[in-house]
Amino acid sequence: MTDALARLRASLRKNGWWRTLTLIPRNILFHLTDFDRKHGTNTGMQAEDDAGLPQEHEGYEGAPPRLFPRIIRSLEISADRYTFIDLGSGKGKALLLAAHHPFRRIIGVEYNPRLDAIAAENGRIYRHPERRVHTIETVCDDAGAFELPPDDLLIYLFNPFKGAIMERVLANLERSLQAKPRDVLIVYQNPTQRRLLDQASFLERIDYREYRTKRLRKMPIGRVAVYRNRH
Ligand SMILES: C[S@@+](CC[C@H](N)C(=O)[O-])C[C@H]1O[C@@H](n2cnc3c(N)ncnc32)[C@H](O)[C@@H]1O
Repeated sequence: MTDALARLRASLRKNGWWRTLTLIPRNILFHLTDFDRKHGTNTGMQAEDDAGLPQEHEGYEGAPPRLFPRIIRSLEISADRYTFIDLGSGKGKALLLAAHHPFRRIIGVEYNPRLDAIAAENGRIYRHPERRVHTIETVCDDAGAFELPPDDLLIYLFNPFKGAIMERVLANLERSLQAKPRDVLIVYQNPTQRRLLDQASFLERIDYREYRTKRLRKMPIGRVAVYRNRH
């Protein structure tokens, strides 16, 4: 109950009344699965998660476990070619879900040291028969300053920050690609700063779609934009 109230308060602060009302069915659906009780992890949203974060950061919310695999499947990629990086990885829920796919490496970058420590612990304790990647790397850093590894990358963004940080993240990525040309895919979920990626001349948008529940009156559960770098 405390978690539900914390989520409601965070959503009101972040999205206002109207959007919060429209998000309630989606949240009921996500939390019906009760990921943490099932796996012994700690990925739920708590009141203290966003304490002390600078203004331009968005708050913490874990990746939706039903939607995430649909997004990854839609890319039709060979995961073993890519290093998966979650910029703004929070408590590591997307990292855990990514570990079901045979990525070369899985790395989470999180600004908040408390959330980063929880993500590392979640990575150690998460047991799932479909887990394919054992090691989940977590780094406590600003996403705009993080030195990207020289591999082909799948960068996951779940609405982690506002425009100023996104601009730094894009500049950092462009510099990294100039130094070492390679393939990069960006999956941007709830893409509030989509305009900045649409305008980046080194990127092209290859998909944009709204996901809906498969049943339950096909309710909207998230929008996702996908980009790749131009060569
Ligand atoms: C919506 S949560 C997403 C959590 C995670 N990606 C997931 O899907 O489970 C966004 C996260 O981005 C983090 N964040 C915000 N600004 C950041 C920055 N400049 N560098 C790194 N992390 C940041 C927040 O602390 C928060 O944990």
